[in-house]
Amino acid sequence: MLKITGLSKHFGSFVAVNQVSFEVEQGEILGLIGPNGSGKSTIFNVVAGLYKPTAGSILFQGKEIGGLPAHQICHLGIGRTFQIPRPFSKLSILENVVAAAFFGSSPRPGAKAARDRALEVLSLVGLDSVADDSIDVLGAAGLKKLELAKALATQPKLLLADEPLGGLDAEEMVQAADLLARIREEMGITIVWVEHIMGVLMRVVDRVVVLDHGEKIFEGSPAACVQDPQVTECYLGHAHGARREAVPTASH
Ligand SMILES: Nc1ncnc2c1ncn2[C@@H]1O[C@H](COP(=O)(O)OP(=O)(O)O)[C@@H](O)[C@H]1O
Ligand SMILES: [Mg+2]
Repeated sequence: MLKITGLSKHFGSFVAVNQVSFEVEQGEILGLIGPNGSGKSTIFNVVAGLYKPTAGSILFQGKEIGGLPAHQICHLGIGRTFQIPRPFSKLSILENVVAAAFFGSSPRPGAKAARDRALEVLSLVGLDSVADDSIDVLGAAGLKKLELAKALATQPKLLLADEPLGGLDAEEMVQAADLLARIREEMGITIVWVEHIMGVLMRVVDRVVVLDHGEKIFEGSPAACVQDPQVTECYLGHAHGARREAVPTASH
């Protein structure tokens, strides 16, 4: 479904993503993990068209999309959530999702179809009871659900979920992970799931790609990932103990 080859993104002289290659198969959930600053969100931003790649190729269903504008990539069928939720603060929860349904799909749906689709995805993520409320009623978990609803309202074939568990408590994390699994099962949407802490993620994903300092250091099964010396080194071996919280574990 997605084939990334030799992808690099430089910001001035800083290399945020360095020659990264991986593929995403139709129907899978791929975990894209790595410590903070390893280039995960930058890869999403390049794939989704927020940034142009410095080098490399991004094929989506066989078509080169590297450098296309974000709205075209969205219309082709790639939906993304932002790590830091980005709602329109003056619109209601429902209006936020209607806007995504209306402007995020091509051909553009009618007003009623956009509203129906928005209500459907709000129900899926569990926000239907607050649809007409202001976004101010939403806490961290609610804002993450709204991000997901907005992305799903564009009817993506591929969903890029950027740290959907960030800021959630343990129970909310399990619920959010279950929701991603249901999105794949019930809607047939292929998912790339970025997290830097990966306890729950490791139980749901089919495969893992690990980044460190903008480079791919591992690709394989969750079980093999936690056994990999380079992955362990990347999470534990750096001089700063701050990264210890993010130790990968398959059973946590
Ligand atoms: N727009 C930008 N301009 C300059 N540097 C950036 C920009 N976006 C990201 N970076 C840098 O690129 C590196 C990777 O960032 P990011 O992709 O956000 O990491 P991750 O999502 O893995 O935590 C970081 O050092 C970050 O500061
Ligand atoms: Mg990030």
